[in-house]
Amino acid sequence: MSVSTAAADRSLLAPLPVLGRDVTVPLVTGGEVTYAALDYAASAPALQRVWDDVAAYAPYYGSVHRGAGYLSQLSTDLFENARRTVAEFLGCRPSDQVVFTRSTTDSLNLLAGALPAGCRVFVFETEHHASLLPWRNAHVTYLDAPGSPAQAVETLERALADRDPHGPALVCVTGASNVTGELWPVRELAAAAHAHGARVVLDAAQLAPHHPVSVTDLDVDWIAFSGHKLYAPFGAGVLAGRADWLREAEPYLAGGGASRRVARRADGGVDVEWHDTAARHEAGSPNVIGAYAIASACKALTEAGFDTLVAREQHLIGKVRQGLAAVPEVKVLSLFGDEAPRVGVLSFVVAGWNSSHFAAALSAEYGIGVRDGLFCAHPLVRTLLGSDPQTQGECGAPEAAPGEKSLNAVRVSFGAGTPDEHVERFVRAVRELVRDGAKWDYRTEDGRCVPAV
Ligand SMILES: Cc1ncc(COP(=O)(O)O)c(C=O)c1O
Repeated sequence: MSVSTAAADRSLLAPLPVLGRDVTVPLVTGGEVTYAALDYAASAPALQRVWDDVAAYAPYYGSVHRGAGYLSQLSTDLFENARRTVAEFLGCRPSDQVVFTRSTTDSLNLLAGALPAGCRVFVFETEHHASLLPWRNAHVTYLDAPGSPAQAVETLERALADRDPHGPALVCVTGASNVTGELWPVRELAAAAHAHGARVVLDAAQLAPHHPVSVTDLDVDWIAFSGHKLYAPFGAGVLAGRADWLREAEPYLAGGGASRRVARRADGGVDVEWHDTAARHEAGSPNVIGAYAIASACKALTEAGFDTLVAREQHLIGKVRQGLAAVPEVKVLSLFGDEAPRVGVLSFVVAGWNSSHFAAALSAEYGIGVRDGLFCAHPLVRTLLGSDPQTQGECGAPEAAPGEKSLNAVRVSFGAGTPDEHVERFVRAVRELVRDGAKWDYRTEDGRCVPAV
């Protein structure tokens, strides 16, 4: 990803303004410090622009698709415009549908309920649970973790070649790993899937906040992402793509909004005619603020320019990687190797440290918010750590006491709103903790490591 030096230099100066950038938090060792939010992969802070747009709209808030009043009309317009903005952001085909959901998890569960009869599903074991688990009722093939992008394509091709080429099939792929941050060969996987008559859904939860994601450029059939990772934390997500499977499926939820006509039958039952637009899967009053916030974020990121955002993020990734490489006790987790292109998400373990202990010390002693655990991708993290499935706790719940051998990892993640100081403080904190140890005592409480006092 090359950008002109001038553009890169300019871009490095300015993170996008986000909410919470001036929030201070207490340190267990005394004093306060500006909070360094380095857990963007879980939820990114709202862009100031998104918040301002939402605040400006809030007094005009009204019901969507169900009111004669001015504000209802306005809210309906904003909701439908948001759909168009998202379609544009994702480079959708004219016939595609954009369905507003609650999240990526919701989007993929919706699609899982819309699979045609007999559909085979192919998914790598390395996926986030949101991509791994919704297909339980279909015939799923879980593919082994590949050691390189090329191997991922070969593995998929082999698996697809073994299936009945006439039956429907879906491949679910991630754009960027929520554990390693590594980019997956989406275009190549999609081409392989299509060559074997299968369709593709892209889990873009971690990719869309960092890179341009286009249905047409990547030639995928659907894209799913979450607003709260795209700087729009107002409870909405998106499933966008081919209309046919969605139109033929049972509505995701049954209720008002999804139904065009409902009538009692002579035999006492009820006849329902469902919408065949996106509304079919959006029963109930929609989350207009969430949809509006996503549209605002799409516009803000497009206006900031992904070239600029990528250049800045690569600069931050470089700082973190260089900083961690200077600490031999730190091992960064990677499936595709150190040089693999990635987004601003890195997981690591520190020799001699329990990851929960390490993350607790980063928070309590340095005001840095990261995540520790298995990141809702248990099979992948176990593969990377070479650990035993039986010894792992639930998502995010560490099972070892402070000081014991790590069975989990620490994840640091950042993006468009991250100032250099946050990653610099993180690198310094890692160095100091490894060199000097924690300054405070910690204990385990409800499965989490917390300062002892
Ligand atoms: C790659 C990936 N897919 C899906 C999800 C699920 O997103 P959500 O919790 O917003 O449904 C996540 C969340 O971390 C993720 O990282």
